Amino acid sequence: MKLRKYPNDSSCASWPVSDLHVIIIFSALSLMQLIITPGSALGNDTDKFALMKFKESIANDPHGVLTSWNDSVHFCNWLGITCGKRHQRVTAVDLESYELRGTLSPYIGNLSFLRFINLENNSFFGEIPQPIGRLSRLQHLTLGSNMFKGKIPVNLSYCSKLRNLELGKNNLTGMIPLELGSLGKIVQLVLQQNNLTGGIPPSLGNISSLALFSVGYNNLVGTVP
Ligand SMILES: *[C@@H]1O[C@H](CO)[C@@H](O)[C@H](O)[C@H]1NC(C)=O
Ligand SMILES: *[C@@H]1O[C@H](CO)[C@@H](O)[C@H](O)[C@H]1NC(C)=O
Ligand SMILES: *[C@@H]1O[C@H](CO)[C@@H](O)[C@H](O)[C@H]1NC(C)=O
Ligand SMILES: *[C@@H]1O[C@H](CO)[C@@H](O)[C@H](O)[C@H]1NC(C)=O
Ligand SMILES: *[C@@H]1O[C@H](CO)[C@@H](O)[C@H](O)[C@H]1NC(C)=O
Ligand SMILES: *[C@@H]1O[C@H](CO)[C@@H](O)[C@H](O)[C@H]1NC(C)=O
Ligand SMILES: *[C@@H]1O[C@H](CO)[C@@H](O)[C@H](O)[C@H]1NC(C)=O
Repeated sequence: MKLRKYPNDSSCASWPVSDLHVIIIFSALSLMQLIITPGSALGNDTDKFALMKFKESIANDPHGVLTSWNDSVHFCNWLGITCGKRHQRVTAVDLESYELRGTLSPYIGNLSFLRFINLENNSFFGEIPQPIGRLSRLQHLTLGSNMFKGKIPVNLSYCSKLRNLELGKNNLTGMIPLELGSLGKIVQLVLQQNNLTGGIPPSLGNISSLALFSVGYNNLVGTVP
């Protein structure tokens, strides 16, 4: 598709041409590539749109930390946002302890380069959105000390790179999904101080990387497998 846009496309067919010609054609092509490739601009737009949706679902921002999230500032420079230098895609959302009150938008699942989410110690309520399971690069998910309710999304088991999963001090209910046992890179799994019920799934015993497992202050029953 990129090549088709190149105006001298036909000249590519007119081999052999002088070496100089070839060099010129190739440098023109790579220049176009440079211009077009960050034209995963589609991806960039999706990231910006997802962040705008994230902001939209926050009803109360008493410290005005999201006022920098406006059109006169590139989204990579919005407070709490980190982007990859090369591709300008969002890699981290870090908004700890800002007294933000609202729900976590399901659009977060469209930030496909995200590796780090920290929303600890705010007032997020509602459920943890299932589309978070689409974040295949996610390594840190820290949502502790909020008011999240409902179940731990089974879909989290698709975030296969997860190292830290911190959901302590919320209002989560239901059972610990046995599917979390497939998260083979988990180092810290913190679920303490929720209203979780049922037993500790034996599948968690398969996570050999696990160094910290904290589930106190719930309504769990049974034995530690
Ligand atoms: C946009 O963000 C910048 C940087 O924080 C701020 O100075 C400016 O007032 C904001 N604009 C609006 C319209 O909020
Ligand atoms: C939680 O956030 C509030 C408000 O920003 C702050 O005063 C408090 O120290 C934070 N608590 C912890 C444990 O970080
Ligand atoms: C992003 O995510 C939302 C909700 O999960 C979805 O409805 C939407 O179509 C997705 N795609 C884009 C390109 O925003
Ligand atoms: C759950 O995660 C899978 C795999 O990433 C994704 O395809 C699916 O859309 C997610 N489900 C929901 C309800 O978002
Ligand atoms: C948990 O839910 C109960 C019942 O809905 C509510 O009274 C309580 O304030 C909630 N606690 C937190 C930390 O969200
Ligand atoms: C969670 O447990 C606490 C204390 O055990 C209780 O006060 C609260 O109502 C429970 N919340 C829900 C949503 O069940
Ligand atoms: C642990 O992993 C092994 C090998 O993949 C599997 O056969 C077994 O069923 C797993 N155990 C649990 C309790 O999930």
